[in-house]
Amino acid sequence: MPLFKTTMEEARLPLMIADSKGRIIFANRCLEDSMGYTRAEFLHGSLRDLCAPYEQNRYIFSCLPDIKRTTEVDIDLQRKNDEIFMANVSFAPFDYRQALHLLIVVRDVTVRRLQEAKTREDEERFRTLLAERNMLQDQLHRCSKIAFMGELAAGIAHEINNPLGIILGFVQDILEEIPLNDPLIESLKIIEKETARCVDVVKNLLDFARLKHPERISVDIVELLEGSIALMTPGIKKNKVIIKRDFGGKTPLLKLDPQLIQQVFLNVMINAIQAMPDAGVLSLSMGLIRKGQVKESGDCIRISISDTGNGISQKALHRVFDPFFTTKGSKGTGLGLSVCQRIMEDHRGKIEIENRKEAGTICNLYFPIKD
Ligand SMILES: Nc1ncnc2c1ncn2[C@@H]1O[C@H](COP(=O)(O)OP(=O)(O)OP(=O)(O)O)[C@@H](O)[C@H]1O
Ligand SMILES: [Mg+2]
Repeated sequence: MPLFKTTMEEARLPLMIADSKGRIIFANRCLEDSMGYTRAEFLHGSLRDLCAPYEQNRYIFSCLPDIKRTTEVDIDLQRKNDEIFMANVSFAPFDYRQALHLLIVVRDVTVRRLQEAKTREDEERFRTLLAERNMLQDQLHRCSKIAFMGELAAGIAHEINNPLGIILGFVQDILEEIPLNDPLIESLKIIEKETARCVDVVKNLLDFARLKHPERISVDIVELLEGSIALMTPGIKKNKVIIKRDFGGKTPLLKLDPQLIQQVFLNVMINAIQAMPDAGVLSLSMGLIRKGQVKESGDCIRISISDTGNGISQKALHRVFDPFFTTKGSKGTGLGLSVCQRIMEDHRGKIEIENRKEAGTICNLYFPIKD
């Protein structure tokens, strides 16, 4: 034992020996230096006395007699001068005079733990940056896709528009001429319907390509919205849709291209009405959003158009602005919302669409007040 004692005394590690009740029966010099207690003070104390006050009821102290193999725990210890530090404490059991004793090694891990915390923080920051980069890459990808689509659309739409118009004109002429009981009438009607659909697609493609830049003038946005609602009257009546308005007080005049913004209102309202084939409520509201209130960088006017339809599935939700994404089969071209997004971006505004807590969907359009 004297040999061990000398070795432990000289060891450059803070060491102590305690009995199974946690009473300290030996502490080496290194521990004295580290904790600031004298040898005598150690020998009268217990392990709990070395802990920070909030650590004194740690589970490990109640099961010291049961320790069968070396066990490590992180505990905050308190020096004699009250300074608290983070320690990794290992308890190695051994028998001495037929009783369980513990060899305890105390390692100050404050610096290491702080570094670990910093590394975790760095990792967290790195992950955030990575997520941002991925998002920007997605955006870039979307923009280049849109730019490519735009060029493609502009090219082909011109070429296809005229022949389509001619086919449609001829079919309609034939339909007017042939007798109502002609067996070809059904086929001709299909040709007419499908050609009309192609004309729609091409028109939407041209809108989408829309090489025209917004020509902005001062516009009363309520008036513009009311004008767009009026254009929707047939669809509103057909689907038995009720309109609710909440336009609040006076709104400032906004500088925008009325033709393009009307197209946004129409596309969004058409979607809403199509989502309510068997009646529903189309709610339109407008409000002033102050800088920072809803992620917006400046004051803006928010127009919300919501419906009580079936809403959008989670899977579809992040694709609704993709060109040609549609869940309407041959009834949709999937260009409506991508056109809206481009127009809003050209106005430095923003369009968002989400499901409402209640049934249906809400589309928010943000128009910056100051350019
Ligand atoms: N109010 C809404 N309720 C439910 N789903 C919607 C609503 N608005 C958009 N969507 C979904 O988003 C998809 C894309 O809409 P978008 O307007 O771009 O194309 P579309 O309506 O399918 O076709 P198009 O507008 O070209 O006729 C729709 O097919 C639909 O699934
Ligand atoms: Mg649409």
